[in-house]
Amino acid sequence: MDISILSEKLNHTLSTLRYGENPKELYEPIRYIMALGGKRIRPLLVLLGAKMFDDDVEKALLPAAAVEVFHNFTLMHDDIMDKAPLRRGQQTVHEKWDANTAILSGDVMLVRAYELLLNVEPEKLPLVLRLFSRTASEVCEGQQLDMTFERREQVSIPEYIHMITLKTAVLVGFSLELGAILQGAPQADAEHLKAFGDNVGIAFQLRDDLLDVYGDKAKFGKQVGGDILSDKKTFLMLTALEQANAQQRQTIIGWRDKTDESIAGEKVKAVTQVYDQLHIRQQTEQQIDLYFQRALHHLDAVQLPDERKSMVRNLALQLMERDS
Ligand code: IPE
Ligand code: IPE
Ligand code: MG
Ligand code: MG
Ligand code: MG
Repeated sequence: MDISILSEKLNHTLSTLRYGENPKELYEPIRYIMALGGKRIRPLLVLLGAKMFDDDVEKALLPAAAVEVFHNFTLMHDDIMDKAPLRRGQQTVHEKWDANTAILSGDVMLVRAYELLLNVEPEKLPLVLRLFSRTASEVCEGQQLDMTFERREQVSIPEYIHMITLKTAVLVGFSLELGAILQGAPQADAEHLKAFGDNVGIAFQLRDDLLDVYGDKAKFGKQVGGDILSDKKTFLMLTALEQANAQQRQTIIGWRDKTDESIAGEKVKAVTQVYDQLHIRQQTEQQIDLYFQRALHHLDAVQLPDERKSMVRNLALQLMERDS
């Protein structure tokens, strides 16, 4: 079976979801953000994780949808926190409506995600709910660290990796693990898939940080330079600070706390210039590759023939090289 067939099944399932009707101000933003689509890689990873162990993935479709609804909830709130104007090439929910709307619609999406997870076989439900709840808490922990680090002067690279592991990677790992669990995979295999996903997730966030500076707005669908503007402590920023000479350091520090829209272009340009001088782009690419290699070791450890692992491997490879 081709990955596009899984993708079609998934898109069909997502299109059949009903979130609610009244009041429409609560439910309309959910339909809006879900209709914007996105790459839908997390639910696809649920299906691919499932398919590795059993070709019949029907029972993974609604749990996969749960993961995508949860992910979109985190995006809706993340965009308020990051003051982001654009998502998937369109206005963010808090811009199109307002922040209160985005808060409450997001809240009800989290509830819907739990409801969708109820479609797991009863004997697997306690484990799935325990793992999902832990993952969801970790995403919030990572999001809080991300915000705390914006205002903190000194952040180390290990602290950054810890932060992105929580805010982004654990959900990628959980997605694969969920697929494996639903098909009754051996625990050791499910754990290796989780570790594979966590490392792919770290590389995925590194790529996201890179695209935030060097991406093409039309493809990326988000404001380019947003991380620089809001003083995010990304891998790019921390590596630059580590390697900057006195003058470059002064440039970066001098722009800190200047988040006003009117100087946005100038700030992004000045900081990007320092990144260019220090070859931060290449260093980030190397880091992405390092985590991808780590991920592959865990995939290798999964006790299945290579041909059963090739779809997941190929998707991960595509994610490493993505431009959107
Ligand atoms: C965006 O996730 C948030 C990050 C963890 C970087 P995606 O890049 O998967 O966003 P969509 O769902 O495809 O829009
Ligand atoms: C994503 O981090 C973390 C989430 C869990 C939503 P970002 O803030 O970098 O994600 P984007 O770039 O807005 O999609
Ligand atoms: Mg964020
Ligand atoms: Mg954001
Ligand atoms: Mg980002």
